[in-house]
Amino acid sequence: MDLTTSYLGLKLKNPIVVGSSTFTGTVDGIVKCAKAGAGAVVLKSLFEEQILSDIKKEEGYTDIYNSNPDADLYMKTFLRGNEIAIYENLIREAKKAVDIPIIASINCADKGEWISFAKELQDAGADALELNIAVSPFDKDVPSKDIEDEVVNIFKEVKKAVSIPVSVKLGDHFTNIGNIAFRLSMADAAGLVLFNRFYNPTIDIDNMKVVPGSALSVEEENSNTLRWISLLTAQEIPCDLSASTGVHTANDLVRQLLAGAESVQVCSALYRNGIDHITTMLKGLEDWMKKHNFNSICDFRGKCSASADVKVFERLQYLRRNNDLN
Ligand SMILES: Cc1cc2nc3c(=O)[nH]c(=O)nc-3n(C[C@H](O)[C@H](O)[C@H](O)COP(=O)(O)O)c2cc1C
Repeated sequence: MDLTTSYLGLKLKNPIVVGSSTFTGTVDGIVKCAKAGAGAVVLKSLFEEQILSDIKKEEGYTDIYNSNPDADLYMKTFLRGNEIAIYENLIREAKKAVDIPIIASINCADKGEWISFAKELQDAGADALELNIAVSPFDKDVPSKDIEDEVVNIFKEVKKAVSIPVSVKLGDHFTNIGNIAFRLSMADAAGLVLFNRFYNPTIDIDNMKVVPGSALSVEEENSNTLRWISLLTAQEIPCDLSASTGVHTANDLVRQLLAGAESVQVCSALYRNGIDHITTMLKGLEDWMKKHNFNSICDFRGKCSASADVKVFERLQYLRRNNDLN
């Protein structure tokens, strides 16, 4: 049974990628993912925002230098460099420990840092880069086009600076996902990860406080991903697609491949079931392929993104009163 797939120009032994998470933030976690059979891992993101907040927490240090600006700059540079050195070390050690591709992930607050972080992680040996781009769509004065331009420009700047494949992980807060996907692919994105699942706050009505919602997805959340993987495959967007959010079972994996994904990213399913769930999903994929007489992924990948099915995926409204609920 040939489970290999090509993702970001890398040959993966199977399409299961462990998504950016705490599993992929340590060498030990990455080794466990590889042992369970993962085709690749995306490292926990290097967050510039986190580095900046760590620097802020340390701000008391300036007192000992009587707020000397040179000392301040020195400490900031040191703290930033230290965080990046830890991440670079993670890449180097992971590369030594496992033989699956290591995809680094960055999220930056500042425009210039995307480029310097990308170069440094490439130099540390990352096989590819995933840009976790989340430009907040919460300011009513900013037109959608400005946000989309910013996403595309960040990508273009990073792409110019590195030679390894670069993918973009997007949220689904876009008016026309097809258009932003097309623009990124035309700018030479090697892949798109659809979708990031953002922090979802809710309200505790007894204490009347805003509290964090569940950090983990449920399986039912994968239908939006399935819709867009299928629609973008049918529209022949010229880059690889990785399905993320709500891929919990072997059946979900098969569905995303049938829709046209080159890979899937799993995260919540592993928090809920343990890392060995990767092995269970791969077994389920093989069983399904045997049952349907497929020898390789390319025998069936994209089979359900044919135009007839696309019409169903394009439909948004329930038309009849009763039948849709059956
Ligand atoms: C605990 C936790 C940590 C995460 N950390 C990151 C991260 O650092 N960078 C990132 O791009 N996504 C991160 N994610 C998002 C996941 O990679 C993934 O996109 C999301 O959980 C949806 O996939 P799932 O339904 O398989 O969980 C994190 C998710 C969880 C639950």
